[in-house]
Amino acid sequence: MTAPRVILGIAGASGAALGLSVARQLRALGAEVDLVVSPAAERTLQAECGADALQWLGAMATRTHSVRDIGASIASGSVPVAGMIVAPCSMRSLAAIAHGLDDNLLTRAAGVQLKERRRLVLLPREAPLTLAHLRNMTAVAEMGAILLPPVPAFYLLPVSVQDITDQIAARAIDLLGVAKPIALQWSDDEPGLAERVVGDL
Ligand SMILES: Cc1cc2nc3c(=O)[nH]c(=O)nc-3n(C[C@H](O)[C@H](O)[C@H](O)COP(=O)(O)O)c2cc1C
Repeated sequence: MTAPRVILGIAGASGAALGLSVARQLRALGAEVDLVVSPAAERTLQAECGADALQWLGAMATRTHSVRDIGASIASGSVPVAGMIVAPCSMRSLAAIAHGLDDNLLTRAAGVQLKERRRLVLLPREAPLTLAHLRNMTAVAEMGAILLPPVPAFYLLPVSVQDITDQIAARAIDLLGVAKPIALQWSDDEPGLAERVVGDL
């Protein structure tokens, strides 16, 4: 089987580590990763993940595209990719995708996934949410995007922020349907875990 080609967009919402985790896990699966990072995301990556984060991401990616390069390969539906994950997705990029603006390479590539009926998984991060945010989420869902808000899987009893981040990133990858599922799965065979948490209260 040939390696799936996946676009990873990182927009300037908090949760930049989600993008790093998606990149690392896609790479571990052997996927080709086309990376596009917005200018605001460059700032959140530096603020939340450190000065080397952008360079590290570049090393994970098969191809890194400038967000201004509206003529990049991934701007065209003629280039076969399996789908796209935007992790995290800012409310600005969400709005641009919801309204079909295609105003930079990240939002253009997302729009291409929608028009080609390919998987588009968005990890929108904002709190609390305005009516505009909710309406834009409804609009992209109606167009076929999958919304995966980066909320913790509390039922898996994560012990670190890294656990939470990796699980959300793994679920985003699983939603693309390009490989065997990698996310941790709930098992009702282990009730002792929940008992332990309750015992700590
Ligand atoms: C440190 C930091 C954290 C931010 N967190 C969020 C956030 O969680 N959600 C959001 O929608 N915007 C957030 N923003 C604002 C966006 O970066 C801003 O709206 C930007 O225009 C988004 O551009 P982009 O969609 O091209 O990445 C944050 C900005 C900074 C500097």
